[in-house]
Amino acid sequence: MTEPLVKVSVQGRVGILTLNRPKALNALSNEVIDELAEALRAFDADENIGAMVLAGNERAFAAGADIGAMQGWSYMDVYKQDYLGGNWESLKRIRKPIIAAVSGYALGGGCELAMLCDIIIAADNAKFGQPEIKLGVIPGFGGTQRLPRAVGKAKAMDLVLTARMMDAEEAERAGLVSRVVPADRVIEEAIEAATVIASMSLPSVIMAKECVNMAYESGLDAGLMYERRNFHALFATQDQKEGMAAFVEKRKADFKHK
Ligand code: CAA
Repeated sequence: MTEPLVKVSVQGRVGILTLNRPKALNALSNEVIDELAEALRAFDADENIGAMVLAGNERAFAAGADIGAMQGWSYMDVYKQDYLGGNWESLKRIRKPIIAAVSGYALGGGCELAMLCDIIIAADNAKFGQPEIKLGVIPGFGGTQRLPRAVGKAKAMDLVLTARMMDAEEAERAGLVSRVVPADRVIEEAIEAATVIASMSLPSVIMAKECVNMAYESGLDAGLMYERRNFHALFATQDQKEGMAAFVEKRKADFKHK
């Protein structure tokens, strides 16, 4: 039996996805992305899952798109298959939060994949970069757009144009990652954070994710209106009644995710 390219497991209400192409430093082929997209969609549709963790291994989260596969492709090959569209692009439509647990290399498409997640927790050995320019191309899976939004123009230009790598500490200072933890703790830390998120009311979690994402895609007035309308909408949920009653009654909320 062939090993899956993405291993899947469940811990409580957390779905865990582990990239499993260690010999190629988890290089992202179309096949890896197809398996990943399918597994993410399955967790997204599963009532018993509230958040997800995406991890690689200690040496590499993912060292980028598969250079061996791309090497011989022509313009027509990439254009006709809409390379980096399709299932690659579909990852941004996952509604539940995904935490990237990044150890080792997150380069090129690997850094872009981490940035597609909602929170990045980095091991102290993590290295981020967009080295595509060394291959005679540029980032194609969101790097030139998401990196400047995360770290600002100066550092994004520096990384994209020089191909240098940024370590975990620099990435935290720059705002790309939310926490840096010892390498042997990164998966547990991500699962713990995902467990906290998954204990919240799912409708409010999904709306919160949509609203924060809207901050990148709209002007302030439109974003504020979007946030307020979603805030209003949550008063239609049972969980809003339960959450506020639990606070007033000084007990823990028992959310039903509706
Ligand atoms: N694609 C395919 N195979 C890759 C790969 C990639 N992106 N990155 C690493 N590998 C393979 C290597 O070819 C090697 O395979 P073999 O053992 O069969 O030779 C194996 O993984 C181990 O890699 P190295 O021997 O190179 O390991 P190292 O420790 O010496 O170096 C590294 C590690 C610095 C990460 C180096 O592997 C590297 O520079 N990788 C490429 C990084 C890169 O350029 N990424 C961008 C890809 S393009 C892209 O992602 C486009 C986009 O925007 C979507």
